[in-house]
Amino acid sequence: MATLRAHSEQNMARGARQLRSRRLEAAEAAAKLPDILRALIEEHIYQMRVVRMLERQVALLNQRQQPDYEVMHGVMRYMTGYPDRFHHPKEDLVFRKVVQRDPSSRPQVKQLLREHEQVIAHGAELMTLIERCRADSGTADTDALRKSAHSYIGHLRRHMDVEELHFFPHAQRVLRASDWADVDARMQPILDPVFGESVAPEFRRLRAQEVRKPDSVARRAARRRWVRAVAAVEAVSALVAGATLSGLKLSRHNREALGTNAAILRDLLGTQPSGARAGLIREAWVRNAGMARDIRRQLSDVWSEAFATAWQACRVAGTPEAKASEAMDRLRRIFERPSVENTSPAR
Ligand SMILES: [Fe+2]
Ligand SMILES: [Fe+2]
Repeated sequence: MATLRAHSEQNMARGARQLRSRRLEAAEAAAKLPDILRALIEEHIYQMRVVRMLERQVALLNQRQQPDYEVMHGVMRYMTGYPDRFHHPKEDLVFRKVVQRDPSSRPQVKQLLREHEQVIAHGAELMTLIERCRADSGTADTDALRKSAHSYIGHLRRHMDVEELHFFPHAQRVLRASDWADVDARMQPILDPVFGESVAPEFRRLRAQEVRKPDSVARRAARRRWVRAVAAVEAVSALVAGATLSGLKLSRHNREALGTNAAILRDLLGTQPSGARAGLIREAWVRNAGMARDIRRQLSDVWSEAFATAWQACRVAGTPEAKASEAMDRLRRIFERPSVENTSPAR
């Protein structure tokens, strides 16, 4: 037992040492990361932040809902105006340096340079589609927009993954300090208009919306489903409560009616003169009609309240009002039919 415990403690200690060592390596690698690569990775993070906003709009299009074209337009204005003009060209400088130091990387570099051209062309095409939908969402081809945006996001993500996972570490390995200094000297100092120290006026709305981080479409859809489910339960509960209360009232009414009619019947069967019997029959009819009127009024009140509660639950949950209203009116008509108790007995 003691040997087993000692063995387990040794394993734990070894695991902790390995974890510390990996963390140390990661910290050292991050500390050694050239400023240019650090800046490029930071720019990727910014791009992904706005691309996620675009993705949320594509999710709405997937659900045949109206997206926010202003958000889509803002995202692509940023992507085409900033990363396409400054981020990819900066990377091109790094990639060309890598080929000089490591000619065997030429095929991969050619592929990345081609992808930059494709991303730029695709971004311009997507911007045109967004502008068309923004100008006239009724007639524009939203399906083409949805497919184009979806494919743009996918390509851009894969491209950035390849850069961060394979190419930036390779550049870090093969480039020397003088190479980085040379690349740095050729780069234009550019301030990011959305994530920089000051936000450009035309991007203030985009930045505010990005910071707000609205709920994901899936989370909102789940919440909508939950609200509807709760509303359905509330509506059914209200109707069940109505039915239960109606049953109780009807059963009390039946007991009272039975008692009253039994008393009248006893009088009728007694030794009453014929004139008095006719009066008793009239009285029985009047009392029964009164009890029927009373129970109908009570049931009408119960169901009105139950329907109002059920309707309120449906309305809050966003059930299409016309259909729900129509269904409720039909049910209400069934339970509120005009009564016939005002008719008098034949004399
Ligand atoms: Fe790139
Ligand atoms: Fe990049």
